[in-house]
Amino acid sequence: MNTRIKQTDLELIQGDITKAEVDAIVNAANSELIGGGGVDGAIRRAGGAVIENVCAEIRKREGGCPTGKAVITPGGDLYAKYVIHTVGPVWEGGNSDEAELLASCYQESLRLAVENSIQSIAFPSISTGIYGYPTEKAAVVALTSVKDFVMQNNTAPAIIQFILFDAATNNCYVDALWSVF
Ligand code: APR
Repeated sequence: MNTRIKQTDLELIQGDITKAEVDAIVNAANSELIGGGGVDGAIRRAGGAVIENVCAEIRKREGGCPTGKAVITPGGDLYAKYVIHTVGPVWEGGNSDEAELLASCYQESLRLAVENSIQSIAFPSISTGIYGYPTEKAAVVALTSVKDFVMQNNTAPAIIQFILFDAATNNCYVDALWSVF
């Protein structure tokens, strides 16, 4: 399902983000930037050793990546030239700034994309797997955050995709698209 915000095409796609033919894909990482399961494991397997090598340098230099922030590495063997690693919040019931932190993941990832002249970017559904954020709530936060960024930035990427792994997640994002736009 597609929509347009100013100069940007926003696309919801069900599939595997490691196969995305875009300039950058976004990883749902952890603060230590140490490989995990879920989409993180899939991206690292597909991208190869360069991702861990650059994550190790960032760990050494900056101590990792705080929740709500993002860092960038090469994409290695992926089609995508870059991987932007962002750290979503763990769901703790909704009163621990989870929505603000999740919105910040999308803002910070897009800010890094603009800084690196990235024209096309694909996001997974951050925090809704191992981190337990309810998908219907996360979808509204994600799409609202992306919409706000594009409205406020004339240099936002021309293509922003959400690549949702399963039908249930895809359906939540389709419903959220109707409510946000
Ligand atoms: N393509 C797209 N989406 C995927 C893929 C894939 N190849 N594999 C998994 N997903 C989906 C999951 O189905 C879920 O909808 O990504 C979404 C996010 O789930 P997680 O990967 O579990 O991410 P998150 O909930 O943010 O938890 C992050 O998990 O792997 C660890 O190191 C990571 O500690 C961090 C934590």
